[in-house]
Amino acid sequence: MSDAPKLGFSGFATPSAGVLVLFCDEKLAFGTASRRVLEPAADLIKRVAAADRFTGKKGSVLDIAAPAGLKAARLIVLGLGKVKDLKPQDIVKLGGSAVGRVPASAGEVTIFADLPSGPMKADQAADLALGTQLRAYTFERYKTKPKEGEEKPAAKTVTIAAADAAAVRKAWNSRQAVADGIIIARDLVNEPPNILFPEEFAKRTLALRKLGVTVEVLDEKAMTKLGMNALLGVGQGSARESRLVVMRWNGGKAATPPVAFIGKGVCFDSGGISIKPAASMEDMKGDMAGAACVVGLMRALAARKAKINAVGAIGLVENMPSGKAYRPGDILTSMSGQTIEIINTDAEGRLVLADVLWYVAKRFKPKFMVDLATLTGAILVALGNEYAGLFSNDDKLSERLSKAGEATGERVWRMPLGPEYDKLIDSKFADVKNTGGSRWGGAITAAQFVKRFVDDKTPWAHLDIAGTGFDSRQNDVNRSWASGWGVRLLDRLVADHYER
Ligand code: BES
Ligand code: MN
Ligand code: ZN
Repeated sequence: MSDAPKLGFSGFATPSAGVLVLFCDEKLAFGTASRRVLEPAADLIKRVAAADRFTGKKGSVLDIAAPAGLKAARLIVLGLGKVKDLKPQDIVKLGGSAVGRVPASAGEVTIFADLPSGPMKADQAADLALGTQLRAYTFERYKTKPKEGEEKPAAKTVTIAAADAAAVRKAWNSRQAVADGIIIARDLVNEPPNILFPEEFAKRTLALRKLGVTVEVLDEKAMTKLGMNALLGVGQGSARESRLVVMRWNGGKAATPPVAFIGKGVCFDSGGISIKPAASMEDMKGDMAGAACVVGLMRALAARKAKINAVGAIGLVENMPSGKAYRPGDILTSMSGQTIEIINTDAEGRLVLADVLWYVAKRFKPKFMVDLATLTGAILVALGNEYAGLFSNDDKLSERLSKAGEATGERVWRMPLGPEYDKLIDSKFADVKNTGGSRWGGAITAAQFVKRFVDDKTPWAHLDIAGTGFDSRQNDVNRSWASGWGVRLLDRLVADHYER
């Protein structure tokens, strides 16, 4: 769980204690409010900056302990570089790097939402706050003692000082909903697979009911009745039962079709009978990052009372080898009626998506469907950890997702689909086979497989998040392994285009 710092908002008052964080540009220019608070120490700043050769370059830091003339115990100045190209996502990152520079022992932190060009707007100051919350997230639930030499971080209060604190607090409300959604997604992905198996995952989604989300959990019996033999086939080798969770948030006009989000929730992917090599297999506890994102997103939409009807559906299974496991050569009949020849039991995510997408389309007739899945290693080969792969049958939806990606920093890169790739998954014995047979274009053949379970009239986008759902490298807004990727992207997509 995270020891999230307490967040507060105030006007530009000089803090009487703790750490003060200010920003300056590459000409060492500060905003007026910052200049006012620095007044008694102006000379000191100049001398320290010169001694440290601090020029305010982007990413540079000036760190002064016990600054003479100021009551604050420490002054931290972050260099912005050129200020005119500060995008919202840069400001989120700025909030993150501010918290990152504060020593663990510090209790009170005050960050001035003030730029050389003037005080930040309320939205910008709230973005700054978002960055502080995301950066402060840690997953310590299973650590019983601090590491040697690592001090236990002090309980923190972060205060965002701004021109109009009330306006910032208001702008913060919707961002807090998103921040909480991201944190819930991260927690789910970070949890170990012995704790977070399908049934337990399903149980945790019930907490969304408090926010007005309708949550239904379908067990294996219910799914058998629906004919979801593709999803059930994946789960049949596991001692843990599979689950399908359907979450609904109805904040839009009654009788308008919902938007739908579908998540791959493979709580652990051993590969099954086509078992994976041992190296990094532990990462496959995160093979439910798509499902975690959908839960986080539904929570965010509900918490900010989004004016939209939204469905979130997640297929929860564990892919294990056993005497009961599905095997290469098996033919499964999916809910759609299409038969699937299993070539490789490690290509399991697409089987889960096939049944959940079919179910959602049939039951809800959504305005669009977006699925998220840690689907292929091949998308990591293509795009690394920077972009998710986007596959879609709809240019407008693709365009909107790309724009939302640029705006939030959760970027997507459109990949091709086409009949040449589709041919590669024709099967000798069934309607379709679950791999393309070769590694080439592996992310595309996987997407082509999923596409066979989507009718052409429903706008659909598939996001392959194998490279973005988790990543052991830290960045300004995340020190943990799980990223919570997709919550911000899809919240933005909804906010910009689909709310009434
Ligand atoms: N869950 C994996 C994909 C994955 C790999 C996610 C690395 C995150 C990081 C998926 O189920 C899988 O095993 N895909 C196979 C497909 C292959 C057998 C056709 C792959 O990518 O190797
Ligand atoms: Mn797999
Ligand atoms: Zn998988």
